[in-house]
Amino acid sequence: MEKEDVLILAVESSCDETAAAVVKNGREVLSNIISSQIELHTVYGGVVPEIASRKHIEKINQVIAEALKEAEMTLQDMDAVAVTYGPGLVGALLVGVSTAKAISFASGIPLIGVHHIEGHINANYIENKGLEPPYICLVVSGGHSHLVIVRDYGEYEILGRTRDDAAGEAFDKVARAIGLGYPGGPKIDKVAREGSADAIPFPRAKVVDAVYDFSFSGLKSAVLNYLNSCEMKGIPVCQADVAASFQKAVVDVLVEHSMHAVKEYGLKKFAIAGGVASNSALREALVRECGAQGIEFFCPSPIFCTDNAAMIGTAAYYEYRKGVRHGYDLNAVPNLAL
Ligand code: KG4
Ligand code: ZN
Repeated sequence: MEKEDVLILAVESSCDETAAAVVKNGREVLSNIISSQIELHTVYGGVVPEIASRKHIEKINQVIAEALKEAEMTLQDMDAVAVTYGPGLVGALLVGVSTAKAISFASGIPLIGVHHIEGHINANYIENKGLEPPYICLVVSGGHSHLVIVRDYGEYEILGRTRDDAAGEAFDKVARAIGLGYPGGPKIDKVAREGSADAIPFPRAKVVDAVYDFSFSGLKSAVLNYLNSCEMKGIPVCQADVAASFQKAVVDVLVEHSMHAVKEYGLKKFAIAGGVASNSALREALVRECGAQGIEFFCPSPIFCTDNAAMIGTAAYYEYRKGVRHGYDLNAVPNLAL
């Protein structure tokens, strides 16, 4: 007989955050520890994979111990250990996967591998206790931009994806070009508040044969061309105007695609996920648009939008209930498909 509560220890190390969490029954976060490497990578202007892996190795045991301590639990209380096994940086993923396998082997707790993007989507369940599939979700992170229908727990239908740069990648590259540095998203979000979103008419790219696909590399090039032409003409660049106008161009496309999908599929619930989902202009625009269309809008708090292990614990809970268990042959899969 299964005991009533399901407790999951979750581990996440796919990029530059070493994270561990204890999650009860999928939606109750008992602890959520995140050790960020941002400062370490800032001097290089982006994540250096080898440094990320080394730092994960240094931090992971400490972060897991802290997560259990804060939850006032021990490994023996856990029903499963969950870990992100892809997509992400292979060296970084391997640290989490190896650690989770070692914990599972040593303690006899079952192992559950989780898809990182599934984790981001599931972050919506943590604070929205009533949210249930089906709904449409826009997943926008540093490596991915997907518009998906969440048919059921763990069942996704992908409507569109990016053809080139991910939304977060565009934020990071533009931030670098205008001298804001890494990580670009939060910095552009902040600086944009001082600028005019209508100052520079940057393009809103459409992919001709796929209405839900995204393309951000043309926008990035347009920003670079604008900066070059200002330099050549000796015109001073207003950093805040570029940030605000670029951000508006991204937000407009994300909102337009999302609302198109919501209307076409007739679903009354819409959610966002991933690091870029913490962008204040995107959140405001979606609150407004969903409100106008009578769609219920869901978004995780910013701390659950960017990489964390609580979302991995939530996704793992629904896999656990379906009976999913992984063997010790679980490997890191850097390009794991949704
Ligand atoms: O989901 P995430 O933490 O990691 C990945 O799975 O990629 O997303 C990181 C991305 C970065 O590109 C970062 O610049 C972006 O999310 N980001 C933001 C904001 N906060 C983080 N982009 C726009 N506005 C923000 N406030
Ligand atoms: Zn992520």
